[in-house]
Amino acid sequence: MKKRVAILISGGGSNMVRLVEDMADPDHPAEPVLVLANDPAAGGLEKARALGVPTAVVDHRPFRGDRAAFEAALQAELEKARPDIICLAGFMRVLTEGFVRKWQGRMLNIHPSLLPKYRGLHTHARALQAGDVEHGCTVHEVTPELDDGPILGQARVPVKPGDTPETLAARVLRQEHRLYPAVLRRFAAGDRTPVMLD
Ligand code: GRF
Repeated sequence: MKKRVAILISGGGSNMVRLVEDMADPDHPAEPVLVLANDPAAGGLEKARALGVPTAVVDHRPFRGDRAAFEAALQAELEKARPDIICLAGFMRVLTEGFVRKWQGRMLNIHPSLLPKYRGLHTHARALQAGDVEHGCTVHEVTPELDDGPILGQARVPVKPGDTPETLAARVLRQEHRLYPAVLRRFAAGDRTPVMLD
């Protein structure tokens, strides 16, 4: 039986597209069953529909900061799709401990830095600010601590003279598109050995 995967997005969904395209391989151990966004204007929704994946939206704004109510609505959509694995792919809402504990060990996230460096936002600007010569991205299991769970994969990029946060972000994103599918393929087969890409 293939593992059922739900992908949570907030924006353009380029990582989501790579995951779905990789799962089109008949030998892949998983299949996409839902793309769920917290913003009805998320560009990734249209891309998911074009790829034939069911979509749903739980807009966080009407909940006016009531995270428990927002997450209850997320949970209801997820229970309809019955995923075995959740992939956070550019999902920009911080989830509460209660929600994370429900899915712990079955929820992955991609973060644009070489964790544990630069948890949180603005990772590319912070790497440049620090004068780093190397940067990259990480896929990790989601735990209650933000950007903290067991690492399942990392990919590195050089920081080049003249780099801006934008040029560095673009170089990292290309690696994200290689790393996340490689990690999901291994994770869905029950293998948590980290994937390391250069
Ligand atoms: C990626 O850089 C990801 O690491 C970060 O948000 C960005 C989302 O990109 N969390 P996309 O929506 O997958 O194109």
